[in-house]
Amino acid sequence: MRHLPKHRFDPAKAHKLLDPRWRLIDNPLELVRTMGIEEGMRVVDLGCGPGFFTRALLEAVGSTGRVAAVELQDQVLEIFRDQIGNRPNLEIHQTDILATGLGMGQWDVAFVAFTLHEVDVKAALEEANRIIGEGGRLMVLEWGDHAVCPQRDDGQTVGPPADHRLLDAVLAGYLSEAGFITESTGQNWGGCQYWVRAVRGMKSGRLG
Ligand SMILES: C[S@@+](CC[C@H](N)C(=O)[O-])C[C@H]1O[C@@H](n2cnc3c(N)ncnc32)[C@H](O)[C@@H]1O
Repeated sequence: MRHLPKHRFDPAKAHKLLDPRWRLIDNPLELVRTMGIEEGMRVVDLGCGPGFFTRALLEAVGSTGRVAAVELQDQVLEIFRDQIGNRPNLEIHQTDILATGLGMGQWDVAFVAFTLHEVDVKAALEEANRIIGEGGRLMVLEWGDHAVCPQRDDGQTVGPPADHRLLDAVLAGYLSEAGFITESTGQNWGGCQYWVRAVRGMKSGRLG
């Protein structure tokens, strides 16, 4: 089954992405560690937004690691810079996650949180594949089943509309086509959000 992206995140809502309660994610640091981020890793945060996960990634990789934050929209990056500031082991790239311009195979992890559903998934996975080295990891966080997500005070269901979501079964097809092998998975709120960690396998003729 194919996924058709329906929208790009509205930058006017970027501040909300920094609120753990609004995100339903109390402890992003614990979450990225559970997903497998370790000290010393070189991680690309694809579609970093205002930096909710970038901050956690920087803490998890420590001073011996490195983080590249990739984001397209000006307004979002402005908030990112305000929030995160300059760090010796952080680089910021205002570019498209489908063609980052980052060097091939120089990163241990491509981390994509709540962004893959906004883009051409196949093209994004190809770019992730290119930038992580052999044995590199892809870590994806996404919205799961709309029906199990809680409602906000205004009665709106948390997360994007059902038909905007990239469900785990659909992502699994793209991962296997792109040569990724799933290593572990997890979920929050009974499947309202899910994550996948996959390792880059060898795929004939595609990897440099
Ligand atoms: C829903 S937000 C998630 C942000 C962040 N990962 C988080 O979880 O807090 C999606 C972000 O991806 C960015 N984005 C969408 N398409 C993009 C693209 N093709 N290249 C770079 N950034 C993109 C949007 O501007 C937005 O900031």
